[in-house]
Amino acid sequence: MTDFATNAALPLCDLTPPASEDDRRSSGVFATHPSRPACMGAVIGCSARLLEVYEIVDRVARSECTALVTGESGTGKELVARAIHEASDRARGPFVAVNCGAIPEALLESELFGHARGAFTGAVATKQGRVAQAAGGTLFLDEVGELPLALQVKLLRVLQAHEFSPIGDTKVLRADCRVVAATNVDLEAAVAEGSFREDLYYRLDVVRLEVPPLRERVEDIPLLVEHFLDRARSRVGRRDVEGISPAALDLLVAYGWPGNVRELENTIERALLLARGPQIEPGDLPARVKGLGSEQRFDTKLPEVGTDLRRAVESFENGLIRQALDRTGWNKNRAARLLGLNRTTLVEMLKRKRLLRAS
Ligand SMILES: Nc1ncnc2c1ncn2[C@@H]1O[C@H](COP(=O)(O)OP(=O)(O)OP(=O)(O)O)[C@@H](O)[C@H]1O
Ligand SMILES: [Mg+2]
Repeated sequence: MTDFATNAALPLCDLTPPASEDDRRSSGVFATHPSRPACMGAVIGCSARLLEVYEIVDRVARSECTALVTGESGTGKELVARAIHEASDRARGPFVAVNCGAIPEALLESELFGHARGAFTGAVATKQGRVAQAAGGTLFLDEVGELPLALQVKLLRVLQAHEFSPIGDTKVLRADCRVVAATNVDLEAAVAEGSFREDLYYRLDVVRLEVPPLRERVEDIPLLVEHFLDRARSRVGRRDVEGISPAALDLLVAYGWPGNVRELENTIERALLLARGPQIEPGDLPARVKGLGSEQRFDTKLPEVGTDLRRAVESFENGLIRQALDRTGWNKNRAARLLGLNRTTLVEMLKRKRLLRAS
């Protein structure tokens, strides 16, 4: 049994931060952060990288700035957008979310800006759009990269002149909403290929919040697992399941999570449902998590939004070291041989990375 980021007895988030910024950054899975921004509310996580995001949320919230939230699918972009809203002076106003990728193009304009009666066939009554509904609050434009070019111009007008007109209406209405947009595609690439307006891109990208993928903040995994277990127990009707075994948690930490927090949430719910005993064991986890799809763990595909090379290498390295130690029952001589290192080097690495074996 190892305690690689997963020993429940080890207060992962209370580890004393390493002395320097450089140490803090290089300490990989054990990176810690001194304080938790208030705006995180019920958001689960203690990793330095997530806390950095929410520190920016705190600052953005106090302004009226437009913000762009980027990150892979399922990382928690919508949670970030809601946190901006809730920590802002607009918190008492509405939070209106529009998924630009989910609404058919023909309907999107009316959905966003509304229409006058008789504006087009079928427009039997005046309809208020989401921009108007978000008055006094926040308009969250999810998958903003999917916005058709014609609507990009109209959004630009909202951002620049704070005004808009419903379809078929000559009235100019005031747009009193803060815009937060999200994307999991590379908008700069979309600008380069001409599918996204450069001026709109710069208007949206006033403040950028990059939500890191789960594999780059694995110290959040034990907390998230606990949270999802608590939430799912009664829903799934498995109050008898007390928790998760260290071995199963180890597998969750080592897995690459291409679907990020959403995939973790679903995995926990499924494992809870299938658990054969009082604890979730490795056997209750899907094959891809158990390591049969290990190539996923060391996916070398550069994510759309880019990556942090040093952190990616660190987590790759930690994963291999952990596997070697697990396989050899923490025999450091044999593990070192498996990794082509000498024992002293491995021991030094374990110290630096603070990888300890549970008693
Ligand atoms: N830090 C977190 N704490 C608790 N729950 C989280 C956290 N991050 C994500 N989740 C949960 O994971 C799921 C996915 O989050 P969210 O919808 O915000 O992701 P997203 O980045 O907007 O995904 P997509 O790109 O697919 O729209 C949600 O159920 C959300 O509540
Ligand atoms: Mg989303």
